[in-house]
Amino acid sequence: MIYTVTLNPAVDYVVALDTLKLGAINRSSSEAVVFGGKGINVSLMLRALETPNIALGFIAGFTGDAIRDGLEAQGVHTDFVALDKGFTRINVKLHAGEETEINGNGPEIPAEKLEYFVDKLRALSDADTLVLSGSVPSSLPADIYARIARIAAEKGARLVVDAAGTLLLSTLPYKPYLIKPNRQELSELFGEPADTDEAVLALVKRLQAQGAHHVLVSMAGDGALLCTQDGAVYRISAAEGTVVNSVGAGDSMVGGFLAALEKTGDFAAALALGAAAGGATAFSVGIAGFQHVMAIYENLKTEVKRIG
Ligand SMILES: Nc1ncnc2c1ncn2[C@@H]1O[C@H](COP(=O)(O)OP(=O)(O)OP(=O)(O)O)[C@@H](O)[C@H]1O
Ligand SMILES: [Mg+2]
Repeated sequence: MIYTVTLNPAVDYVVALDTLKLGAINRSSSEAVVFGGKGINVSLMLRALETPNIALGFIAGFTGDAIRDGLEAQGVHTDFVALDKGFTRINVKLHAGEETEINGNGPEIPAEKLEYFVDKLRALSDADTLVLSGSVPSSLPADIYARIARIAAEKGARLVVDAAGTLLLSTLPYKPYLIKPNRQELSELFGEPADTDEAVLALVKRLQAQGAHHVLVSMAGDGALLCTQDGAVYRISAAEGTVVNSVGAGDSMVGGFLAALEKTGDFAAALALGAAAGGATAFSVGIAGFQHVMAIYENLKTEVKRIG
């Protein structure tokens, strides 16, 4: 089974207005509610691609209930730990020409709830994949990713990490099966440029030397590069289309990659479905659906080049 982890999910309240005036009553022209959180995005893409998975993490209050019920209604199975106090955050996204965001902190996660969550992970086995994505809420210890990574390693589960900076680096000793930095995250890890494929490859080799097995580097409109554990390098260009909202493209790529790998075990196919899923989401309002992804995949699947 594939499990995704979203430690601090959110209900995104997306409001469009013509103009935004501070200190005045504003009226929206449209509003939407979207479930946010990187692990949840991965779960939604896996579900779209008919790949069974279970979303894990913490929820609280009425917004937490809405996320759990909403995901289940969309066919994503969940096993969230419910907190007794507070509520899952609501992030307000104001689209008025330019974009203004107010992101909530999220509920406090008490130590005993964290232990309960960690205990659940001890049921992982070598038949499982655990996807860790995004940041860690301020109420959790910063070493939580390393702790989770260690458990996954002890249980023989495949660990997938999509996180930035020291969070990502802290998981490398536990030999993650796949990591997916974007180009900027890769560059910031080492304080060195990653603006050519050669530069990207050199930095990827350093991540592999620190323990990462397969490394997928996403490059938004420039496509993606995959270095496998055995040293093979695959390159794909980006899908062509009009960007609507690229938030979640990286999460969709992780979902598409894992869905294809689970079905075919083929890295070239996984890279192509990952890039198709990322592109389809960039060309959509939310996380893209099955038909959109597959239509793009049909065009992209012959575009994978082995360059090393
Ligand atoms: N503008 C675009 N056109 C075509 N494909 C895109 C575009 N943006 C993203 N993609 C596809 O999605 C993949 C992941 O996108 P990106 O590199 O932006 O991830 P990211 O920065 O991790 O995004 P996020 O963290 O917001 O989900 C890219 O490698 C590419 O294949
Ligand atoms: Mg990302």
